Amino acid sequence: MSEPVVSSAQHIEPSPLDIAWITRGLGANRLGTTIHYFPEISSTNSYARARAESGASEGEVVVAEYQSQGRGRMGRRWESPPFANLYVSILLRPKLSPAHLAQITLMAAVALAEVVEEFVPEKPAIKWPNDILIGGKKLAGILSEAACSAERVEYVILGIGVNLNYACSAMPEELRRRATSVLEAAGRPVQRESFLQRLIQGIERCYGELEQAGFDALAARWESYFAWRGRRVRVELLDQVTTGTARGIDRDGALVIVDDGGIAHRILAGDVILVEN
Ligand code: BTN
Repeated sequence: MSEPVVSSAQHIEPSPLDIAWITRGLGANRLGTTIHYFPEISSTNSYARARAESGASEGEVVVAEYQSQGRGRMGRRWESPPFANLYVSILLRPKLSPAHLAQITLMAAVALAEVVEEFVPEKPAIKWPNDILIGGKKLAGILSEAACSAERVEYVILGIGVNLNYACSAMPEELRRRATSVLEAAGRPVQRESFLQRLIQGIERCYGELEQAGFDALAARWESYFAWRGRRVRVELLDQVTTGTARGIDRDGALVIVDDGGIAHRILAGDVILVEN
C-alpha cells in the first residue's frame, strides 16, 4: 500500500489518518496493538479514562482528528482543529507507587522531545514539566491523568497534543504569539502517520528503559532538553508565587528552584514563567 498523503504547506487537504498503515509499521508492541480512532470526539483523554475504568489493558491508544473539548493542563482548553495535528491518549498501567507518578510524564516528555527532534532541524526544549518548545514557542504538550490507590498507580492516561501541520496563520490570534508547529519549524508538512508511529515507538522504548534501568538515565535526558536551567523563573500556583533560579529536577520529577536566600524549593505543580533579568 502506498504512503499516506502529505498535503502541501499552502493547501492542507483534510486527509484522515491511515490507522492501518500506522499499525502495520509499529513493530514491537506493548503499546498500540489496539488503536481507537475517531474523526471527532470530545477529548481522547476522557475516552481513554473511560476505557481504563472499564478494565482495558495497558497500551490501548485513542486518537482523534478533532476534539470538541480538548483539555490542557491547569484546566485550560487545548485548541484542536481538524486534520492538522495529533491528539492522542495512551493508557499505561505502570507498576509504580503514586509517589513516583511524575516519572511517567517526564519519561513521555523525553520520548516526545526525541521524536520532535527527528522532524525539525532545531533542538527542542522542554519547559517544566512537559511542554515542548521550539524557538521559545509551544509545539506540544502532555496532560497526564492518573488513578491511584494508597499503594499503587492503577492507570495513567498520557494525553499528548502536537501541533503538526498547523500553520501559524490559521491559529487564533492569542495562540499565534506563543505557539508553533512542525510545519512552521521544518518549513514543510509532516506525514502525521509517521509522527504518531514514531511517538508510540518512542514511548514504548522509554517506558521500557524506565522500568528496567530506573529514572536516572531518563532524568539526564530530560535535563539535556531543559530550557531554563540557571535562569530566573517564577512559579505560580493558585495564589502562591515562588521566584528563584531554576536548577533542574529531582528524583520525583519536582522542579528545584533556589530562592534569593539560597533556600531550595521543590515545585510539584504550577506554571513556570521566565523572569527577564
Ligand atoms: C498542555 O496543556 O500542555 C497539555 C495539552 C494536552 C492536549 C492533549 S490532546 C490529546 C489529549 N486529549 C485532551 O483532551 N488533551 C490531551
